[in-house]
Formats: sequence, C-alpha cells, structure tokens
Amino acid sequence: MQTDSSFTFVLFGGTGDLSMRKILPALFEAHRAGGMLADSGKIFAVARHAADRSEYLQWVNEHVKPHVSKNGVDEAAWASFLKRIEFVKIDLGNPDDFALLRDAIQDLPGIRVFYLATGPSLFVPICHALASVGLNANARIVLEKPLGYDLKSSNAINDAVGEIFAEEQIYRIDHYLGKEPVQNLLALRFGNALFEPLWRREWVESIQITIAEELGVEARGDFYDNTGALRDMVQNHLLQLLSIVAMEPPHSMDSDSVRDEKLRVLRALKPIDPRDIGKVAVRGQYHSGVIRGTSVPAYATEPGVRPDSTTETFVALKVEIENWRWAGVPFFLRTGKRLADRVAEIVVNFRPVPHSALGASALRAGANRLVIRLQPNETIRLYCLAKQPGEGMNLASVHLDLAFDQFFREGQMEAYQRLLLDVINGRLALFVRRDEQEAAWRWVEPILNEWKASNKPPKPYASGTWGPAASSAMLAQHGTCWLEEEN
Ligand code: BG6
Repeated sequence: MQTDSSFTFVLFGGTGDLSMRKILPALFEAHRAGGMLADSGKIFAVARHAADRSEYLQWVNEHVKPHVSKNGVDEAAWASFLKRIEFVKIDLGNPDDFALLRDAIQDLPGIRVFYLATGPSLFVPICHALASVGLNANARIVLEKPLGYDLKSSNAINDAVGEIFAEEQIYRIDHYLGKEPVQNLLALRFGNALFEPLWRREWVESIQITIAEELGVEARGDFYDNTGALRDMVQNHLLQLLSIVAMEPPHSMDSDSVRDEKLRVLRALKPIDPRDIGKVAVRGQYHSGVIRGTSVPAYATEPGVRPDSTTETFVALKVEIENWRWAGVPFFLRTGKRLADRVAEIVVNFRPVPHSALGASALRAGANRLVIRLQPNETIRLYCLAKQPGEGMNLASVHLDLAFDQFFREGQMEAYQRLLLDVINGRLALFVRRDEQEAAWRWVEPILNEWKASNKPPKPYASGTWGPAASSAMLAQHGTCWLEEEN
C-alpha cells in the first residue's frame, strides 16, 4: 500500500502506557515497512512529563524501543523514525497551552489526526481546547475505550465531542476490530459459499465466543476496579465479535454497510429481564492460584484494588438474538482474567444429523463443529466424523485444519498498525459508530444495574481455572458445555 497523503499525528497521552506499548510501536512498524506513511508525515507527542523534545526522545528510546519488533530493531529505521517525532509540552488542564500546539502544526500539510490516548475525563476538555484554537477543521479525532462508564456518560461524551467534530471525523477504537483474524472472519463468512447456507438457526445449535486471558489486572488495578470485565471487555470487544459472527451479509465492505449490519444485530439482542439474571449471567472474581507453575495473588490484593472489591474479573453470559436467522439459538459469551489459558475463539456447534443410519455414534459430540481461533495462533478447525479404519462402522471425531501462518508467512499486521493507517487514510469501517456504541450500552446496562442493586459479591474462582462453576452449570442447563470441557 503506497501513500503520499501527508498527515500530522498528534498523540495526547504521549508518555502513557498505551502510547508506549501500542501506538508508537505500531507507528514505527508502519514506518519501517516503507511506503505506508508519507515521508512528510509528522508525529507530535503531547505530554507534561518531559521537558523538551530531546528528553522525550530519550523516553521513547528507553520505553518504546523494547516494545517494537520482537525480532530485533532495525536501527537505521529506528533512527529515521525518531526524526518524525516532535514534542509539545502541554498541560491538558490549561486550554491556553493549546496555542503552542496550533503554532507548531497549523502550517503543516495534510490531514490532522488527534489521538486521545488519555483517560475519558479528558476527551471533552481536549476537544474544546482544540476547537478554541481552530484545530478541529481538516482533522480526525481518535477516541480510545472506555468511552464512558454507562449509556448516560457515553452519550454525554459523544454529544460534547459531536458538537465539535462531525461523526465522519470521529474514530472510536475497538482494537479487536483491527485484528487480522477478525478481518478473516468476514472473509470466511462472506467469501465462501460453503458456510453461509448453514449459518442460521436451522443448522446451528449454539455458538460460544470466548476471550480468555492469563494475565491479571497488572498495573491497572485503579482503573479496572472501577470498570470490571463487563465494561472492559463485553460492552465492546465481545459484542463487536458477536455482531460480526451474527450479521447479515453487507452489500459492500464500505464503512456504513458493515456498520449498519452490525448495528442491526446489536439492536436485536434480546433484552435481559432482571428476574432472569441469575440464569443468564455469571460474574466471578479471581482468587489466588497457580498459572503455568507460578503462584499468582488474588484480585483483591492487587495494587490499586479495594480489599473488599466486588468488581468482576470474569463474565459469562447467555445471549439471544431476536431475528429470523438466530431466534432461539443461544450465544454463550465469556471473558475473564487469570484463566487457565490465553485464547480467543468462536465455536459454532452445528446440529447433529437428523437421523443416523450409522448408529448412535454418528450423533455424538465432537463433530459438526467449527472452531475459529483468533489468538494466540490463528486457525480454523472443522470437526467431522470419519470411519475408524478396520472392521465394522465405528466413527471417530477428526478435523480439518487451516493454520493461517502456513499459508501466509508474512504480512501479518498488528491491530493498532492497521487501525492507525485506517485513521490516517480516512477509512472508518473498522471503527465503532456512535449508534453501535449506544446499542451496546443499552443492552449491557440492565445487567450492570441489576448486579449493583442485588449487591451480591461475584463468585470466586481460583486463578488458573476456567472461572466459577456456575459458568459451566449455565451451559449444562442447555445440554452443552464449553469447548475445553469436552476435550
Ligand atoms: C483491552 C482491555 O481492551 O483488551 C484489557 O482493556 C485486555 O483489559 C485487552 O487485557 C485484551 O486485548 P488482547 O488484544 O490482548 O486480547
């Protein structure tokens, strides 16, 4: 992809964790690859915690470089990357400081991208300050999640930002949408005639979507304890994955066609009746345990977490979609920290054959299943039954495997790299539109409210397990189990 469109990329929160681990490394990769970023494109880091450009570059060398290119840094590319970086010292609490930014960038050619890698409480003040110095024209603004705490606060931010920037200028990031395998899900569903006719209630019995992490809350205890897994992972990443799995074929891949179809799914989610919450939602919190031979502490003893915290680090949900394609098919969503494995996958359980001339074993589990693994290694596995060699007609579960790294050895792009290039090039398809975000909050909110009102603590689970037993029990009620429980 060659580009000559110039840009000025302004990074608010320039010394923050996200800038260090994701944004600057992604910009470096795009720079190193050559041809993806216009030579004239500049990066302006905005921060308080550095005195000047040379101090900032020192910070970049110390903190960002270790996060780039796992296979070693290309020193020449690194040196030329640093030349793109400028620094503006701004106190975000002081709107007058924004004149410094205006003076620094107003005469530069091309589009302006303002990336707000800051806490959401700064989104609105930053937008106002940008407008006050006339920087909201010819600009795109990138908002990191979490965007708000609930529907009301997210609407308040969207309203305020929307007064300054038009919706086409606003790029709400959900980094899961930038992941190569998530893109591939669209290719799998809409590029192949094979799956689409089966992708509906007549043939699908249930679907599971899991995002499991081994990591705990790390250094983010403060933030996480006020957020919890439902807001951190379900409202955005899991519901976005669900909407891609369940959406109707869009008429094209342009940004609004895809987002319109995702929105229809989000609006068709069956509202959760607070009286049913115990049957369709499980919340858990990790206790101490052992992960890969290492003892790890309980959530409540992590730095920044209240010792009596009732914040959930695990959620499992049964979700239904009220439309013709999916009525009656349960979608089981699950996410958690300190689980037994790091894995993100989608499991489509198809119905068994309606009548088996081959005996009862043809109805057994372990067949008629598609497993799409998004991470850590991208694979698609189709489980079928085959005859065991030898006498008699005994069936065994076998699988067809597609490992993407065997087909495509190069060219994998990190989510942030793809998304940042999309912002610079004005492609909105992989960003969350305001109405999608509202629909997701609207669906999630009754769960949050009910959990708060009931005042029940989350169910404990030992680190290194798959969450509270109630999560398995919920699936058992529907005659099914999580994939790992079958193996
Ligand atoms: C982030 C969450 O959005 O996604 C984190 O805030 C979580 O809590 C992370 O760890 C998971 O992303 P990935 O790409 O590592 O699966």
